[in-house]
Amino acid sequence: MKISKTISSLRNEIKLWREQGQSIAFVPTMGHLHAGHIALVNAAREECDKVVVSIFINPLQFNEASDFAAYPKTLEQDQLKLTTAQADMLYLPDAGEMYPLSQQSISKVMVPEIGSELEGAFRPGHFDGVSTVVLKLFNQVIPDVALFGEKDFQQLLLVKKMVKDLDVPVEIKSVKTQREADGLAMSSRNSRLTVAQRAIAPELFSVLNKLAEQLKNGEADIKTLEEQAAKRLQKAGLEPEYISVRNAHNLSPAANDTQHRVVLGAARLGEIRLIDNLSID
Ligand code: PAJ
Repeated sequence: MKISKTISSLRNEIKLWREQGQSIAFVPTMGHLHAGHIALVNAAREECDKVVVSIFINPLQFNEASDFAAYPKTLEQDQLKLTTAQADMLYLPDAGEMYPLSQQSISKVMVPEIGSELEGAFRPGHFDGVSTVVLKLFNQVIPDVALFGEKDFQQLLLVKKMVKDLDVPVEIKSVKTQREADGLAMSSRNSRLTVAQRAIAPELFSVLNKLAEQLKNGEADIKTLEEQAAKRLQKAGLEPEYISVRNAHNLSPAANDTQHRVVLGAARLGEIRLIDNLSID
């Protein structure tokens, strides 16, 4: 696996592949890789001749300095996992390469509506940071296909909308959420949970499942079901931020006749925020 730390060396390598007529799939990450990330790399290998993975902990998308500082960094293990998964290129820019000017004075991409809902409401500025870095990474790599996880469902919709709105020539593909045996969605932040927190963390997924089942069984009062689900989380020792049934295409609040619904949830366990979602229909 090749490693590039600068935009120019990345572009030189990619130019050679392009000259050989090879297609490129791209998987952006923030590292501390787990089986969820590797599922994206595996899907990327199926899509294109070459697979580029980036690891960049993007300061622009963190709304809490403590979360940014504590974000786990395990570069050596990540490199091993990517080599085993047969990635062709690890792109590893540092903050100076990505943001040579002060972060306050750079141009930003803002995706309205999807970007201000749910995660956007609880993490002000977060999605502007995500859309900005993802567009920069797309412009640096210029991939044919880019892969994102359903785990971050709102991020996936946001990137799809940005690409459509701004005519970015990349195809966005999604990969199912990879879970631990007890249902907890894999996440780089899970390793920061204490043993006691880890024991109750799967409750988020089980609450989403229960709500999805109730809706499928025709229990129609969405608001009551959302409130019950939040109470169940509280009882289990989590601090719910939102549990919300939405239209899966644009994240507007779901009604009983909405065709394709998704239930999304976020809850705190001490310092750690867990997010998860489940498609209903
Ligand atoms: P990160 O949290 O490292 O996630 C990188 C990619 O892996 C995202 O597309 C995410 O949805 C996917 N992913 C994470 N956990 C997953 C799981 N359990 N199952 C399937 N896919 C999973 O998301 C980011 O980084 C950043 O916001 C980024 C897009 C890189 C921009 O900085």
